[in-house]
Amino acid sequence: MRYIFSKAIEDLPKEVVFVQFSKEKETYVVQLEGGRKALSLGVEEPEKLTRRKLVLLARQVVAVAKAHRFSRLAFSLQDFRFSLKLSDKDLAELLAVNFGMANYEFVEYKTPPKEGWSFMEEIAVLGKVCSEAKKGLERGNLIAGEVNACRDLVNTPGIDMPPRVLAECAQKAAQGTKVKVKALGKQEIEKLGMGGVLGVSRGSAEEPRFIIMEYQGGKKGEKPVVLVGKGVTFDTGGLNVKPGDAMTDMHMDMAGGAAVLHSVVLAAKLGIKKNVVGLVPAVENMPSGTGLHPGDVLRTISGKTIEVLNTDAEGRIILADALGYAKRYNPKLVVDVATLVGAALVALGQRASALFATDERTSQKIQELGEESGDYVWPMPLWDEYAEDVKGTTGDWLNTSKSRYGGVITAALFLKQFAEGYPWVHLDICPRMIALEGEYLAKGAAGAPVRLLAKMLERL
Ligand code: BES
Ligand code: ZN
Ligand code: ZN
Repeated sequence: MRYIFSKAIEDLPKEVVFVQFSKEKETYVVQLEGGRKALSLGVEEPEKLTRRKLVLLARQVVAVAKAHRFSRLAFSLQDFRFSLKLSDKDLAELLAVNFGMANYEFVEYKTPPKEGWSFMEEIAVLGKVCSEAKKGLERGNLIAGEVNACRDLVNTPGIDMPPRVLAECAQKAAQGTKVKVKALGKQEIEKLGMGGVLGVSRGSAEEPRFIIMEYQGGKKGEKPVVLVGKGVTFDTGGLNVKPGDAMTDMHMDMAGGAAVLHSVVLAAKLGIKKNVVGLVPAVENMPSGTGLHPGDVLRTISGKTIEVLNTDAEGRIILADALGYAKRYNPKLVVDVATLVGAALVALGQRASALFATDERTSQKIQELGEESGDYVWPMPLWDEYAEDVKGTTGDWLNTSKSRYGGVITAALFLKQFAEGYPWVHLDICPRMIALEGEYLAKGAAGAPVRLLAKMLERL
C-alpha cells in the first residue's frame, strides 16, 4: 500500500474517499458536494477510545472501504488521535500497521471475481505531516508487509509447504536484505546429532530442514538474540493420529517458524541495531511404518534424551534440538515461538498467547510490548514443581505430562530442561494462530507474534 501526502482533499482526484468519524452507531457513505464521497464510521464514545480500540478502528476503516470496493482513501492523522496520548510517530505507525493488516486476504488459490479483487491501493494523508509521522508510516508499512508475508506462509496448504519449501521461502524473504540464510538437510542434521528433529520427521516422505538465519545489525562479537520457531509444516499427530476434525488447520503448525523467519527479515528491513539469529526446525509429522512409536527414546543434540509417550506432542521434541543448538551462539536471550499445545487455548481463550520467561522483569516488559504491538500475551508460571510431571522412566524427559492438568505449563517446563545456559522466553501462540471474528482481519492466519518480536528486538 502506498502513502501519499497532500495538503487538502480538493487537490486529490474525485475517486478518493475521505475518512471521517461520527458519534453515531452506524457506518455509512456520505455524498459530499462536487461528487465526492466520505466514509463515516461511528465511534460512540470517542473520549473513551483505548489503544486496543484504535487498532480495531484502523482495521475497520480499511475493511469497510474494501467492502465498498474503494481503493483510495484520504484521512487526517489528527482525527485518529481522539484523546489518546500518542506521539505522531507512534500513531502513524499504529495506523499503517493495522491498515496494512486489514488490507490482506489470502487469494492465491482462488479464482478472481469478474470485477477483480478489492484491495486498498493508495492512502493520502491530509494536512501537515511531520517527518516523524512519515517515519512512523514507513515503519508501519514495513511491519504490516512482514506480518502479511508470514500469514501467506501459514495459510499455504500443507501439500505446498513441506520443510524444503519453507526453507526456500526463508531464502526468498531474505533476498535484498543483510540476512544470511542456511538450510541444513537431513545428513547435516544427523551429523549434528539432532535426534529429535530426525525422529519426528522419520514417518514423512518429506525430509527435514533446519533453517538458520543470521542478521548482524549490531557490533561484531555482540551477543545475539536467538529466535526459535516451531516449523511443523503439517501435524497429523503421527501414530497418535489426531481424531475427528482436530487435524483441520494443522498446515498452520509452522506459524511460529513463519513468524520467526519474517521477524528476522523485518529486523533487517527496520535496520535494528542488534545481532539476531532465527532458528526454525522444519518437519512434517506423519503416521507411517517408518515413523516414531510411542515408547521410543530420542537423543537430542545436548545429549539429553526424550521418552516419546505421544507422537502428537512433536513440537517440543524438535524445539529441544533447536534450543540446544541456540547455545552455540552464546545468546543474550533466546525466545521460542510455537503453536505448542491446545491447552493454551483452554487456559487463555483466543485473545492472548501464553508467555513464560525465566526473568521476571523481562516478562513484565514483554507484556507491555505486547500491549503496544497488538500481539497480546499473558504470563504463566515456570515453577520447578511442574517439572516432576515430565520426568521420564526410560529416558530423561517425557514428551507428555503424567498429569491431565496444566498442559501449557508442563510443555513449557519440558522445554526449560533444554533451554539451559541463557535467559529464555517461551511463547505458546496456539491461541493466536487464527484470526477471530470481529478483529477485522481476513479468515485464516493472524500473523502473530511478528509485531511483538520486532518490538522485543528493538527495545529489550
Ligand atoms: N500442533 C499441536 C497443538 C495445536 C492444537 C495447535 C490446536 C493449534 C491448534 C501440538 O503438536 C499438539 O498436537 N499438541 C497436543 C499435545 C498433547 C498430545 C500432549 C495437544 O495439544 O493435544
Ligand atoms: Zn501435535
Ligand atoms: Zn504440532
